[in-house]
Amino acid sequence: MAEERMLITGGQRLEGTVRVSGGKNTSVAIIPAAILSQTPCIIENLPNIEDVTVSVETLRHLGAKVIWEPRDGIMQVDASTINRTDVPLELCRRMRASSYYIGALLARFGKASVPLPGGCNIGRRPIDQHIKGMRVLGADVDTAHGTVVAQADHLTGGDVFMDMVTVGGTINVMLAASCAQGTTTIYNAAKEPHIVDLANFLNSMGCKVKGAGTDVIRVRGVEKMTSRRPYAVIPDQIETGTLMIAAAATHGDVTICGCIPTHMEALTAKLLEMGARVEEKDDAIRVRSLGAHRAITFKTQVYPGFPTDLQQPMSALLCTATGTSTVVEYIFESRFRHLAEMERMGARVRVLEQTAVIEGVPQLHGAAVEASDLRAGAALVIAGLMAQGTTEISNTHFIDRGYEHLEDKLSSLGAIISRTTD
Ligand code: EPU
Repeated sequence: MAEERMLITGGQRLEGTVRVSGGKNTSVAIIPAAILSQTPCIIENLPNIEDVTVSVETLRHLGAKVIWEPRDGIMQVDASTINRTDVPLELCRRMRASSYYIGALLARFGKASVPLPGGCNIGRRPIDQHIKGMRVLGADVDTAHGTVVAQADHLTGGDVFMDMVTVGGTINVMLAASCAQGTTTIYNAAKEPHIVDLANFLNSMGCKVKGAGTDVIRVRGVEKMTSRRPYAVIPDQIETGTLMIAAAATHGDVTICGCIPTHMEALTAKLLEMGARVEEKDDAIRVRSLGAHRAITFKTQVYPGFPTDLQQPMSALLCTATGTSTVVEYIFESRFRHLAEMERMGARVRVLEQTAVIEGVPQLHGAAVEASDLRAGAALVIAGLMAQGTTEISNTHFIDRGYEHLEDKLSSLGAIISRTTD
């Protein structure tokens, strides 16, 4: 089968209103958390993206009954029929968040066998902190032969000090701790919005999580968790940001509705610094941009700092800003591959280790480029929207992992964007 490519004819001003989907990174944490419920559980506002499809396949492989309505974003999970605790390598390769099944299966069934995620196109992604946390709770964890094999007769709460702020590590330890006897305290915890969303979901099922959104989280485990009402996941912070950047990049006027503006403060501040206009409403953000953008400096940080997931789309925007911008990537070691592709489009970039120096050019031009990961794909879409002529993006499957109906949303705002296999 011929490979699918995305075609974008750049230079169109985006205008109008667009609704943001449910969060990818919160969905891939909340779906495995459904394993903890003794009763069927309903999750709403899930995005129809590849990572959610893989999550459904994973639950079904384990024996859970799953009804997934992608058009409505509603999933019903009945975990009472789960009859195995191993996740196959094929599914783990397709979704990095598969490691969350370690914490969830260990909490509910006292065992889990999940292949290690390994590295990926944005750098090394070890899970030593996840494993350390589970050992503190009393689990035996073995990682020989590339698979995490965890087991525990019973888990007991304890103090987990994270060596670095890790989103995945915080989530996995919260999952494992939810059924442990006593209280687990996670120090140096991640504070991302989806950590708070997971805590709210666990609490809605009877768990006692306090402090989510601060750097000390306390989880008082419960013997049984039961789902009592449908739970809707929060809107996608990174999709919101990508659309905000697309609005600025095309000198457009776009209102993104259904989002949480307070999650966007780091990006909003930088867009204002570049000269764009950003208006925040209760659950909407309007981004307008008229003149040239100013070059800026930014560093990726843990929340509430500038998110690494928006570094790539933002650096696309900087390619045409007036002056020289500096971007420092602190979270992942090789998250600049998209810049080499943008050089094909006329971008002027120098990368030295974790720092990229971007010298703004007046105009990018369309070219054939390749996405190396999800957010690199989003960055190339932004670059394509700004460029003169047609940009052809290959490896679109990366984009489908995390953006729901991206072409439809951008088309509705006036972009000329389509897919082809010719
Ligand atoms: N780290 C360790 N050991 C660990 C865990 C992390 O050394 O045990 C290091 C990582 O190598 C990295 C840093 O700590 O340098 C932060 O990693 P973190 O664990 O926070 O990232 P993650 O949980 O693997 C999630 C998101 C990413 C997002 C990062 C940072 C999900 C499913 N993934 O990854 O999202 O970039 O947090 O915010 O939530 C994306 O959506 O495109 C994406 C990559």
